[in-house]
Amino acid sequence: MAVDLSRIPRSIWWDIDDTNGRPGVFLLDQTRLPLVGDVLCCQKLEGVELAIKSLAVRGAPALGVAAALAIAVYSENESQASSVEQWLSDIDQAAERISQARPTAVNLRWGASRLRDFAHTQAENEHDLKTLKAAIVGFAKQMAIDDEQVNLAIGAQGATLLAADSRVLTHCNAGSLATAYYGTVGSVIYTAYDQGLISQVWVDETRPLNQGGRLTSWELMAAGVPCTLITDSMAAACMQAGWVDAVLVGADRICANGDTANKIGTLSLAVNARHFGIPFYVCAPLSTIDSELAEGSQIPIELRDRRELAGFSTSGIIVADDSTTSHAFDLLTASGIRHISFQHGHQMELYRKGAAYAFDAWFMNTPPDVPIYNPAFDVTPAQLISAIVTEAGVFQPDQLATAIAEHLG
Ligand code: MRU
Repeated sequence: MAVDLSRIPRSIWWDIDDTNGRPGVFLLDQTRLPLVGDVLCCQKLEGVELAIKSLAVRGAPALGVAAALAIAVYSENESQASSVEQWLSDIDQAAERISQARPTAVNLRWGASRLRDFAHTQAENEHDLKTLKAAIVGFAKQMAIDDEQVNLAIGAQGATLLAADSRVLTHCNAGSLATAYYGTVGSVIYTAYDQGLISQVWVDETRPLNQGGRLTSWELMAAGVPCTLITDSMAAACMQAGWVDAVLVGADRICANGDTANKIGTLSLAVNARHFGIPFYVCAPLSTIDSELAEGSQIPIELRDRRELAGFSTSGIIVADDSTTSHAFDLLTASGIRHISFQHGHQMELYRKGAAYAFDAWFMNTPPDVPIYNPAFDVTPAQLISAIVTEAGVFQPDQLATAIAEHLG
């Protein structure tokens, strides 16, 4: 059965905004997917920074591309530099700022450093600011293209690990939306499915922000890959029932010894997979390897807002199908976004969306002020990882040091 790759979503790209003729970083707003498919255009560094913090763009490889594009958009639209020295200083500051937007995925810092280093190298021989600015835009765009190629290679490598008709389980979203295109795990699934090596994908919902339920299932269904959504806590029972042949997850940072940070819940999958004798594969580009960190306890783990656990967010389009209803919504939204207050702290914003009305809402479903701990990632020890699938090959965690020396220098 062939995958329809023309239907998988693209996460982030560079374009010119028709409304003002200026360049911008365009991204599919992943906070509202899958029921509202808004495209955001960020014309300032701060816009991309907010998009990263709010998870409008997310997933380690996509964050690497976002960092590079953010610096390029800053250079194009905001830098007031009149000399190459000033411009390089602006680039350095923009790179530092965007690197801080989220702490765990090393690709964010990697993407910013690559762009910054490229700017400095170019400036050694080129002294025309316009030419330099154009060069970094081209470089950032090329990073997105390179990421697609890397993911295709990861897909080809990963497919070799699967037997015919495998039933695989995945966590979070390491698909096209988490990268420039195709995904890491996504690419393995698409490639393997095309080769008849996958018959079923179990998709973990991925509490608390449901990247599996909202994004991965949507992406797989668009591509025509059979998938079934489960809660994170059902995964062990599916393994016990003999319904899972391999676990495939992405990574936000891989240490030199193979310890791997990924979305919270990955560690329990690895423990359960080991218990039930199921191979556990991490699929990630070489850019996710942080050879400066010896082992997993050194990885900074992002702690996120308590509201992600205290309730849930959703967005939608309102069908105002009679004149009384549309008149009421016209009044509510006449002066722009309308904030609606509820007892117990639920929140809703109503706004006009073309000829329709839309809402963003957060509904609380826990006791007010309940103490909350909300780490976004956990670290899976290398001993629980069967192999790390990269564009340069499939490595056992204990072969990683050799692979780093060979491929990362
Ligand atoms: O918080 P998120 O949604 O950015 O977390 C994403 C993940 O944990 C992914 O599995 C990881 O970044 C790999 S994406 C190819």
